[in-house]
Amino acid sequence: MLGRYTTGPSDERGGYQTFPRYPPGPMPVIDLRSDTVTKPTPEMRRAMADAEVGDDVFGDDPTVIALEERAAELLGKEAGLFVASGAMGNLVALMGHLVRGQEVIAGEQSHIVLDEAASHAVVVGASVRVIREAPDGTLDPEAVRNAFRDPGDVHEPITGLIAIENANAHTMNQPLSVEYTRRIAQVAHDGGVPLHVDGARFWNAVIALDADARELAGPADSVTFCLSKGLGCPVGSVVVGSRDFIWRARRARKLLGGGMRQVGVLAAAGLVALRDGSAGMIDRMAEDHANARRLAETLAEMDGIVSAGDVAQPAPGPLDPSRVTTNFVVFRVARDRAAFIDACARRGVLVVGYPHDQVRAVTHHGIEPADIEAALAAFRDALTETAPPSGKPPAGHLAGAAA
Ligand SMILES: Cc1ncc(COP(=O)(O)O)c(C=O)c1O
Repeated sequence: MLGRYTTGPSDERGGYQTFPRYPPGPMPVIDLRSDTVTKPTPEMRRAMADAEVGDDVFGDDPTVIALEERAAELLGKEAGLFVASGAMGNLVALMGHLVRGQEVIAGEQSHIVLDEAASHAVVVGASVRVIREAPDGTLDPEAVRNAFRDPGDVHEPITGLIAIENANAHTMNQPLSVEYTRRIAQVAHDGGVPLHVDGARFWNAVIALDADARELAGPADSVTFCLSKGLGCPVGSVVVGSRDFIWRARRARKLLGGGMRQVGVLAAAGLVALRDGSAGMIDRMAEDHANARRLAETLAEMDGIVSAGDVAQPAPGPLDPSRVTTNFVVFRVARDRAAFIDACARRGVLVVGYPHDQVRAVTHHGIEPADIEAALAAFRDALTETAPPSGKPPAGHLAGAAA
């Protein structure tokens, strides 16, 4: 039974609740649930132990200051702010850009819209107007332009921000290009509002596109990126933008109770991650992307693995490995999904249920090519174990797969 490995109240939404936990016992675990499961490297742990610290609410922590400056420099912005999480980064960015009663235009399946407990409404007092993502992760610039409200109409909220997600998780983590970011920023600025980039996996986009980070961040007024995902740090995200914006975001962080004191012990890991070249954790993401592609290529040949559907892979049929451009592999199984995930977990390979009846496998630091081979063997066995007696998918199981 999956239940043994499942957290959360139910899996009815077909969403994130299907989180298998580590099986007990000594079986080696290949944990592909997310890139958030990474553990700090020995260099990070040493840097954390040795970090010079101070009271960061007083602005006294030299390691936090160094991290914020390093992040701002890498993305070509005036200032940075270290926050506890990606969700807090997006929230303080919204608070820094918006006043109550304004509206943010964002992707229908973006993290801000779906997965941040409606903090835009609960805390910021902002509504959202959603635009469906195209399969390449973009929001159609004309649709965004048309979604602006009429500020002269007393009935309407006032458009205050456009938010995009780069890389874009629900389209199989597609990276958004410099050119697209420029186009959507133009739409924002033509309408007199800023552009925020939820760059939880911004560095995956930089590596996948072979882009210059400053160029990719350049058109945006603020960018949040996570240290605790593909960069392998234990905690934290950084928000960058203009000095004025970061001051407002800093006040917002305090309001939320997110002012941390001797937090250089955490920022130290971020400074290691953001080092240049092989000393840091950015360039090595290319390995994660190659591992994800290899995983997808072989999965695509397996009977029972099919297209993810929805915007992850709109075309039905086999999984298309060319959709894998970063570190996400998203697919459906012509099986009972829960039974399949459970069968994988019992073989020491952890994956998660994703919306639209999908399964998601994410590569990251600590997953080596040999782990990909072992995971593929486990997937093969799990498919055999969970094959329906007739050899046919359970009735209605893939309803919508062709949509
Ligand atoms: C696109 C995106 N934005 C923001 C977040 C929030 O990050 P955190 O879990 O650190 O709050 C996530 C987390 O998975 C994410 O995928």
